[in-house]
Amino acid sequence: MKVVAHRGYSGRYPENTMLAFQKAEEARADEIELDVQLTKDGTVVVIHDEVVDRTTDGTGSVRGYTFKELEKLDASQLCRGTCPVQRIPSFEEYCEWATQAHLTTNIELKTGLVYYQDIEKKTIAILEKYDLLGRVMFSSFNHLSLVETKRIAPQVPVGALIGKTGVVNAGFYCQKYGFEFYHPSFDSLDDNSVAELKAHHIGMNVWTVDGMRELEQLASWNVDGVITNYCTVCRQYLDGAK
Ligand code: G3P
Ligand code: MG
Repeated sequence: MKVVAHRGYSGRYPENTMLAFQKAEEARADEIELDVQLTKDGTVVVIHDEVVDRTTDGTGSVRGYTFKELEKLDASQLCRGTCPVQRIPSFEEYCEWATQAHLTTNIELKTGLVYYQDIEKKTIAILEKYDLLGRVMFSSFNHLSLVETKRIAPQVPVGALIGKTGVVNAGFYCQKYGFEFYHPSFDSLDDNSVAELKAHHIGMNVWTVDGMRELEQLASWNVDGVITNYCTVCRQYLDGAK
């Protein structure tokens, strides 16, 4: 089972920052999950919310800022006082770092609330520039974004994100649309849904799992990945279970 660091090592460090990504690598995560959006001037940036209020010292929407303006904000608000000032990384900055990091990346296209025009094309162009297309996957709650990435870069695997309701016949659904992975909320899975997905040869990366009971359940289902805020704990558990 892969350990996927949700927004980097976000349980201890400010989410979606270079510090959280570096710490995830140090904690021996197999993969980093991060979220991308577009600024006013079309820069692909790494941030979870459509607004900057929760994670930075600024206010307002990501798409209301140019990248130069966005870079001035302090993105360490969630760990204020316990870690140095952080910046919202451009996706390009992340990719430059990822070329020498020993892990893969799950790029979540945040197109559920705001449909950022051409974000798929722009993200793929950056990955091409850094020769990273072979070490990433895409995920999104907006499955049309996955269809679009498949149109541009069919070789890159994609995962269909689904919230707590799940999809009853998710294996059939993913197979029909060429989605190699299903990314459900843990609460939506049970023995039957896992069996249906396996029967359709669809991989599963499950979010967001930080508890032992859930971790043991995922291990017994033998899913592909656990998406967690605490990559150290998951790594230690999996090392111990070997
Ligand atoms: O990829 C799993 C997870 O990131 C989906 O939800 O809201 O944390 O982006 P969210
Ligand atoms: Mg995400």
